[in-house]
Amino acid sequence: MTKKIEVSHTDYLQYTLKSLQKDGLLLTSTGKDESINVMTIGWGTIGPIWSMPMFLVMVRPSRLTYDFIQQTGQFTVNVPNKGMSSSVLFCGKKSGRDVDKFAKCDFTAVAGRNVVTPMIDECILHYECQVIYTNDFEAERIPEDVAVHFYPQGDYNRVFYGKILSVFADEGLA
Ligand SMILES: Cc1cc2nc3c(=O)[nH]c(=O)nc-3n(C[C@H](O)[C@H](O)[C@H](O)COP(=O)(O)O)c2cc1C
Repeated sequence: MTKKIEVSHTDYLQYTLKSLQKDGLLLTSTGKDESINVMTIGWGTIGPIWSMPMFLVMVRPSRLTYDFIQQTGQFTVNVPNKGMSSSVLFCGKKSGRDVDKFAKCDFTAVAGRNVVTPMIDECILHYECQVIYTNDFEAERIPEDVAVHFYPQGDYNRVFYGKILSVFADEGLA
């Protein structure tokens, strides 16, 4: 396994933000039966709220990930390494309801330090998050052009406010 060093949530932000806008990040979650799921996210943001470092992710109710985060109130966000684009795409197209994506992608689970949900060893940067608040996008407050483009079937995202408990980076990166 790759050696991971604990860093600050403000370190290496450029990797996280660039990946979000390129292929996406990998979010892992755990069900109450301890099964692990991984899904690609392209929407998210990091910053302080209520004097706490926070990672906000926006997950639609149709995702298995939504159910898992609801069940355990935790998730990890992992920044993929170069060469992982096909796995990232796969995790953004297939649901954990139909396939064990962690196994299919040959990901190695790294035990979380402060959360039950594991990190993905093959990734370079990892955020451990505890959900402390949620809210839902409201149909009537979404601009019309956005609604037409992103919500033809509803399925409005829930915003999960993940308090960042710890951040780890690959030794080579840190
Ligand atoms: C690049 C990319 C970004 C995505 N971003 C999000 C996102 O931010 N929120 C979301 O709910 N779904 C997003 N998706 C879709 C989910 O990753 C996809 O529906 C996935 O199959 C859900 O997996 P699950 O059912 O195992 O949770 C994205 C897909 C891709 C390819």
